[in-house]
Amino acid sequence: MREIRSLGKVVVVGQGYVGLPLAMRAVERGWDVVGFDVDEQRVKRLSEGDSYVEDVRREALTASIRCGRFRATTDALLCAGFDVAVITVPTPLREGNPDLSYIDDASRMLSGHVHSGAAVILESTTYPGTTEELVGPLLEAGSGLAAGKDFWLGYSPERIDPGNTTWTFGTTPKVVSGVTPASTNAIKAFYDTLVDQTVTVSSTGVAELTKLLENTFRHVNIALVNELAMFAAELDIDIWEAIEAASTKPFGFMAFTPGPGVGGHCLPIDPSYLSWRVRRNLGRSFRFVELANDVNEHMPDYVVQRLMVGLNRRQKSVSGSRILLLGLAYKRNTGDARESPAVAVAHRLLTLGADVRAADPYVVEEHIPASVVRVQLCPEEVALANAVVVLTDHDAFDLRLLDDASYVLDTRHCVQSAAVESL
Ligand SMILES: NC(=O)c1ccc[n+]([C@@H]2O[C@H](COP(=O)([O-])OP(=O)(O)OC[C@H]3O[C@@H](n4cnc5c(N)ncnc54)[C@H](O)[C@@H]3O)[C@@H](O)[C@H]2O)c1
Repeated sequence: MREIRSLGKVVVVGQGYVGLPLAMRAVERGWDVVGFDVDEQRVKRLSEGDSYVEDVRREALTASIRCGRFRATTDALLCAGFDVAVITVPTPLREGNPDLSYIDDASRMLSGHVHSGAAVILESTTYPGTTEELVGPLLEAGSGLAAGKDFWLGYSPERIDPGNTTWTFGTTPKVVSGVTPASTNAIKAFYDTLVDQTVTVSSTGVAELTKLLENTFRHVNIALVNELAMFAAELDIDIWEAIEAASTKPFGFMAFTPGPGVGGHCLPIDPSYLSWRVRRNLGRSFRFVELANDVNEHMPDYVVQRLMVGLNRRQKSVSGSRILLLGLAYKRNTGDARESPAVAVAHRLLTLGADVRAADPYVVEEHIPASVVRVQLCPEEVALANAVVVLTDHDAFDLRLLDDASYVLDTRHCVQSAAVESL
């Protein structure tokens, strides 16, 4: 790594899928970075140069540590004296309600280190109002300083797309906002050092809503095409061909494809933050989100139902059948199995008494259901399977091996062979 003068000190609170790539990018652009996390195991791995995030290469991590610009820690005292702190902690749902306890903890920790002229930015996905109503007051109470006047406060949504090599951290435009114009300027100045283009919006509420709009848009459109796929199958019309044909329209159409459901940290969760806020503040239901949740959550059941019908046609039952699942990650070319619909399919098949085997080169052991036998995609496994179900279209799969399969249910429309049935 070439020697460049330090731009200052950045603290990234939360070293996960969002925080670690951000930390690496800041190091690359000349910041001294402290990666703070409460998970000792993660901090230990990072300190040993062991990256658990696909988009962060081991070499980049090791180089950042060696040049003295990056340090992972569980010690909050090392956060002192920051110029910029970015919060990238989880925002899960607990029994359908937003759980902001991680943001709360992170804000309280940072409040002891905020000083005049420092900037604090929230990046965690959350409902509109969180930065001003939760983070600001906590920082002010702990520091005795005024947000937007003494120190800068803002929100900038993360748009990271794991596995995407075209739209990277640096090339994807970043929306930035602050609680005052001075905050916005400071926060924009920080991200201008990290990305090619920043897009300034007028309030943190707009920035928070922007992220939820982007994810709700995807969630709803995926649900639309999933529901259509189920009807098209019954009408005996090829949905994939219709999507391809519709995609030739140069305006007013954007292609979304059916699949076994939605997963990851975003789509199954983020739109519900918005519908929760709408219900809580306006007393109304956000029907599109609720309908999309309903359709997308049903998809693993639908995949199993289609498999049952396919096996039935071959005089077989799911119970006792040997079923090979290809892919357990929710997204191609990643090992992220959080909320993965493929894992939901595996659980349902196990409950029905199937002998379930799964191949996924990326997903780590702990995310694979205990009774699922982990295998490699190879001619023997394909030959012995009563059905192969393609759930994640990883590039690493040699799909030509499926030519000899007796029955393939392809939920991603990526296999071409006689015995294939697409979703
Ligand atoms: N993963 C994505 O693709 C993605 C994309 C856009 C936005 N987001 C949002 O970004 C946020 C973070 O997501 P992620 O995928 O990086 O989560 P993650 O679970 O991969 O990482 C979060 C990290 O924060 C740590 N943490 C929890 N509480 C902490 C605390 N008080 N102090 C310090 N560290 C703490 C956890 O130990 C974990 O390492 C979420 O709000 C998510 O919705 C995620």
